[in-house]
Amino acid sequence: MVTTPGPTPDDVRGVLAGVVDPELHVGIVDLGMVRDIEVADEGVVTVQVALTTAACPLRGQIKKDVASKVRGLPGVTDVKVDYTEMTQEQRSDVMQRARLEAANRSPETEVPPNARVLAVASGKGGVGKSSVTVNLAVALASHGYTVGVLDADIWGFSVPRMLGLEGRLAGEAGDDGRGLINPSEREVAGVTPLVKPGRVKVVSMGLLVDDEDTALMWRGLILSKALEQFLTDVRWGELDYLLLDMPPGTGDIQMALGRLLPAAELLVVTTPALAAQKVASRVADMARRSYLKVAGVVENMSEFVAPDGSQHEIFGSGGGAALADEIGAPLVAQIPVEAAVAAGGDSGTPIVLADATAPAAQEFGRLASRITDDLLPPVEMAGCTARILDIANENLAAVDAAK
Ligand SMILES: Nc1ncnc2c1ncn2[C@@H]1O[C@H](COP(=O)(O)OP(=O)(O)OP(=O)(O)O)[C@@H](O)[C@H]1O
Ligand SMILES: [Mg+2]
Repeated sequence: MVTTPGPTPDDVRGVLAGVVDPELHVGIVDLGMVRDIEVADEGVVTVQVALTTAACPLRGQIKKDVASKVRGLPGVTDVKVDYTEMTQEQRSDVMQRARLEAANRSPETEVPPNARVLAVASGKGGVGKSSVTVNLAVALASHGYTVGVLDADIWGFSVPRMLGLEGRLAGEAGDDGRGLINPSEREVAGVTPLVKPGRVKVVSMGLLVDDEDTALMWRGLILSKALEQFLTDVRWGELDYLLLDMPPGTGDIQMALGRLLPAAELLVVTTPALAAQKVASRVADMARRSYLKVAGVVENMSEFVAPDGSQHEIFGSGGGAALADEIGAPLVAQIPVEAAVAAGGDSGTPIVLADATAPAAQEFGRLASRITDDLLPPVEMAGCTARILDIANENLAAVDAAK
C-alpha cells in the first residue's frame, strides 16, 4: 500500500495562517499563538496553541478551525490540539498586536463573535430549508434567545413572506458615522410565562428592493458580494444565533460561506425519500468547498401523523437516517408532513407560533433544545478576551476623557 507522506511543520504552519482568532480577528500565527507543531509517523499532527484565557469558551472554535485546516493537508490522519495559557506578559503583547491590527482595518463582519452560526442547506431544492429556518428561528427565540435570520437565497427569497414581514429596511448612521442597514425585528413570546421574550432579526433581499432600478443595481452584484454586504453592512447588534437560509445547490453562496463565516456549521435538510448517497455526495462536496462541518441532518416531510395518532409514510422513509450515516453527522430531527406547516409559511405565522401543540411544532421545539443544549450551546462572553479588551478600552477612554 502506498501511503502519502505527512506534511512538514512548515506546511502545517502555512495552513494555520488562515485560522483567525474569533475574538481578536487576527490570525493565530500572526498573534504568536501557535507554539509547537509536531508531525508523528502515520500523519498524526499535534499542534500546541497558547490561549489568552484558558477559560474562554471560544477556544472550541479555534480547536475546530485548527483541526479542519490541518486535516485538509495530504497525508494527515489525525489532529490533536493542546492548549497552554499565556503568561500575563505574553497576553499584553498579544492584546497590543490585536489592537494595532484592529485600528488598521474595519471589522470583518457585523456579526458578533459569540453568535453561533448555522447555515440551513440541502443537496436538493424544495426540501423545506426555508420552512426549517423560520420555524427554528422562532423556536430558539421563544427560549429567550436573539436570533438573526439571513436570507442567503438572494433572489429566491421566501423568509419575509414566511415570517409575515413587510416594508423596507432603513439604513442609519451609527455613532461611528458608518451607515448600516437595520434588520427587521420581531419579538417572540417565551414558551412559558417564566421565559423572557426573544427576538428575531431578519435581513432579506425581499426587504430591500422595492423598485426596478434598485433591483437592477443589486442584480449586477455577484451573489457572494450580496452575502458579504448582508454580513458587513447590517447592524446585527447582539445575537445568540445567526441562521442562514441557503439557496438550493452548491453555487457561489456556498463557496463564499466558509470564507465569510468560518465559524458556521451546516444543518442539512433532506426528505425521507431522497436517495441518501446522491445527496450525501453533494453535501460532502459543499462542506469541502466551504470547509464547514455538518452539525446535523434534519429529515423533513417525515411520517404524517393523523388526528387519530396513526402514522403514515407519505414520502417514503429512512432518507434522513441514511444520509446522516453516510456523512457521519447525527440525525437531529424528523419533522412530520403537516398541512399546517405549509399554511404557516403562506400566512406569515410559522406553525411553531400558530399551533404549538402540532406534532411538527413540537419537533421544531425539540430541535431548538437539542441545539441549545448539545449541538451549539450559546456562548457566554463573560471572561473572554474581547470582553476584557472592550472593558479595558472603555476605561482607557474614560481616563482620557477625564484628562
Ligand atoms: N413538514 C412539512 N409539511 C408540509 N409542507 C411542508 C413541510 N415542509 C415544507 N413544506 C412545504 O414545501 C414547500 C417547500 O418548502 P420550502 O420553501 O421551505 O423549501 P426550500 O428547501 O426552502 O425550497 P427552495 O430550495 O426552493 O428554497 C413549501 O410549500 C412548504 O410550505
Ligand atoms: Mg428556500
